[in-house]
Amino acid sequence: MAEKLADAVARRRTFAIISHPDAGKTTLTEKLLLFGGAIQLAGEVKAKKNRVQTRSDWMKIERERGISVVTSVMTFEYGDHVFNLLDTPGHEDFADDTYRTLTAVDSAVMVIDAAKGIEPRTLKLFEVCRLRDIPIVTFVNKLDRESRDPFEILDEIEQKLALDTAPVTWPIGRGKSFSGTYHLADNTIRHSDEDTTPIPVNGPEAEAVSGLLPEHEREAFIEEMLLAREACRPFDLKAFREGHLTPVYFGSALRNNGVRDLIEALGAIGPQPRAQAADSRKVEATEEKMTSFVFKIQANMDPNHRDRIAFVRVCSGRLERGMKAKLIRTGKPISLSAPQFFFAKNRITADEAFAGDVVGIPNHGTLRIGDTLTEGEELVFRGVPNFAPEILRRVRLSDAMKAKKLKEALRQMAEEGVVQLFTPEDGSPAIVGVVGALQLDVLKERLNNEYALPVDFETARFSVCRWISAGDRTELDRFITAHRGDIARDLDDDPVFLAPHEFGLNYEAERWKAITFNAVKDYQ
Ligand code: G4P
Repeated sequence: MAEKLADAVARRRTFAIISHPDAGKTTLTEKLLLFGGAIQLAGEVKAKKNRVQTRSDWMKIERERGISVVTSVMTFEYGDHVFNLLDTPGHEDFADDTYRTLTAVDSAVMVIDAAKGIEPRTLKLFEVCRLRDIPIVTFVNKLDRESRDPFEILDEIEQKLALDTAPVTWPIGRGKSFSGTYHLADNTIRHSDEDTTPIPVNGPEAEAVSGLLPEHEREAFIEEMLLAREACRPFDLKAFREGHLTPVYFGSALRNNGVRDLIEALGAIGPQPRAQAADSRKVEATEEKMTSFVFKIQANMDPNHRDRIAFVRVCSGRLERGMKAKLIRTGKPISLSAPQFFFAKNRITADEAFAGDVVGIPNHGTLRIGDTLTEGEELVFRGVPNFAPEILRRVRLSDAMKAKKLKEALRQMAEEGVVQLFTPEDGSPAIVGVVGALQLDVLKERLNNEYALPVDFETARFSVCRWISAGDRTELDRFITAHRGDIARDLDDDPVFLAPHEFGLNYEAERWKAITFNAVKDYQ
């Protein structure tokens, strides 16, 4: 049994793709799933997106604005490995959702457009990965188009991200002449991803390689390859695992080039499930007892069922269908009767899942973001972040009779992570907070469609919000008493201080040195 668990854990690769919109994340996802056998025909990821959009009303927003709002997970197998690919919303208004998802992965693939290099959103997401030392594999996409010089791209990664690079493959030609990838260390090539196994060659000069290019490009290509071998850093597994170096792969997701190189790399060098930090200790993935945490709640995945799925990252052991787990926040047992795996098109009941896996647990509001589940041990996983909202609004309801229903609906939306909810201490109406304006649109649509609550938003007199704490409890109480009209409670009843502007916040912070004003809070 113990061995089976260790083997299963060693086979798991749980990762996300980070990129700037349009770099090719969707196309790459589609191809990974295609090669992993999770879908039959490329095009289904997009097809799925469209289908969900037409079925689900609130996703009208997504369709209208041409963005992906939904985060989900896709499980597939390739070779000896089981991959859990966690999708993240492309739009920055849903950044908090993306950051929470990144707490559940062991590595990330950074997709870069070969013509555009590092773009702003790539940089931002990379910084989040760096904070957590998440190893990054780089995929330079769209080599079939007019692209930058590969050396220039490597240099830009090193300069802008302060991250060492080690090209593992090299593109054979670019733009119209792009005709495959060359594995620098192995001396193998792939004309396309239809080559399931790489073809051994005698070096870049071999006719099988340079012969793929037009005559006038051959010499330059051979020189470029020699320079790449001499001037670039070799791959260093330790530096990669520690997040200091990124192996770089080139390709074209659209034309089926370089995707197999990438997926095989994730299997060969990608980290297996990492140990996770909890409040009391570090939990190793290979420990026998199951532990897991919720990083995402998604409602209405299937509009016919109006269900609510909690996405759970298994941190250790084996999660078995039907097992009873302890929900640490409430201390109550919860029966995991129907855990689910997700594929591109459908989901199946998971009889068992291992550390590293991400499963969906259908529930009716029992589970919240940040919840820890164990087989009984009292521990809480740290690090699922809650960001201080940048937009604060009061919700105005036209029908005052429905105030109670609104309160309940807002609580549910807050538990799902759609918005944050703050209840002022002075008894005034609740305030909702979001990181990006589109989240307000989602809230409005959902309140209307799911709860028949048409609402509007009013500007609150506050625009800044911080969680407050103090080493000395009496100091905190003193601060709260002195600012009663500016204090609210979050979903966990933790106090927040609301200020009209940054200046007001800084002014109070100067006067109350014993109080800590936090812009980020870990869910507990
Ligand atoms: P995203 O999820 O990162 O936003 O990017 P997505 O995959 O949707 O790709 C953005 C656009 O870039 C798409 O074109 C897609 O076909 C194209 N693309 C992706 N990978 C490659 C590649 O390797 N080479 C080339 N030449 N193009 C690529 P679109 O016209 O915006 O969308 P569509 O109408 O083709 O779906």
